[in-house]
Amino acid sequence: MHLDVSAASVLDVYRLLVEVVTPRPIAWVTSVDREGRVNLAPFSFFNAFGANPPVVVFSPTLRRDGTKKDTLRNVEAIGEFVIHAAVESLAREVNLSSKELPFGDSEVALAGLKLIPSLRVKPPRLAEAPTALECRLIQIVPIGSGPIAANLVIGEVLMFHVDDAVLDEHGRVDPRKLRTIARLGGDYYCRSTDLFEMKRPM
Ligand SMILES: Cc1cc2nc3c(=O)[nH]c(=O)nc-3n(C[C@H](O)[C@H](O)[C@H](O)COP(=O)(O)O)c2cc1C
Repeated sequence: MHLDVSAASVLDVYRLLVEVVTPRPIAWVTSVDREGRVNLAPFSFFNAFGANPPVVVFSPTLRRDGTKKDTLRNVEAIGEFVIHAAVESLAREVNLSSKELPFGDSEVALAGLKLIPSLRVKPPRLAEAPTALECRLIQIVPIGSGPIAANLVIGEVLMFHVDDAVLDEHGRVDPRKLRTIARLGGDYYCRSTDLFEMKRPM
């Protein structure tokens, strides 16, 4: 099949894009509004883009009605956020936290999660999550307009938190212990348990 974007609907383009660009890691993001109310939501338009300084990007797209998601509004207002890895043991909570709640209502309570203060940024981190990256906003790059238009939230990681329970004997993160999940097309997810190793060519 072929799909010419110029002749296709936004929804068809979106569906195909997320079926083809897979698996996508999931940023599980806490942010706060000016009143300090905590918001939590997952974003699979997400990745890391460099390490000096460590840079991450995720994209809260515009809603189908063209409005901004709460996470985007909070990051615009406060300029800080925390990204947690989505892991198998918290898959249900990740999914629950994607529920559209009224601005100011917390998905943290809905998912039955606990918060701990962050060290370098205002938004707290999730107590249950094995990893947390405290981030400061570098720039927001809006691309396009209308439903599902991208907003690249570019952030610098200021602080890493990793639960010792997911480390191996050398102090490296053991993927068999961390067990991240990732997003495929439709309602599909995948685990990171079917691993293989390959040495880089010399
Ligand atoms: C696993 C998963 C990944 C998601 N990825 C994205 C994404 O990359 N961008 C986006 O705008 N919405 C994404 N969503 C939907 C948002 O999580 C959802 O719109 C959420 O209500 C936004 O919350 P907020 O308005 O509190 O920021 C995803 C949902 C799930 C379950």
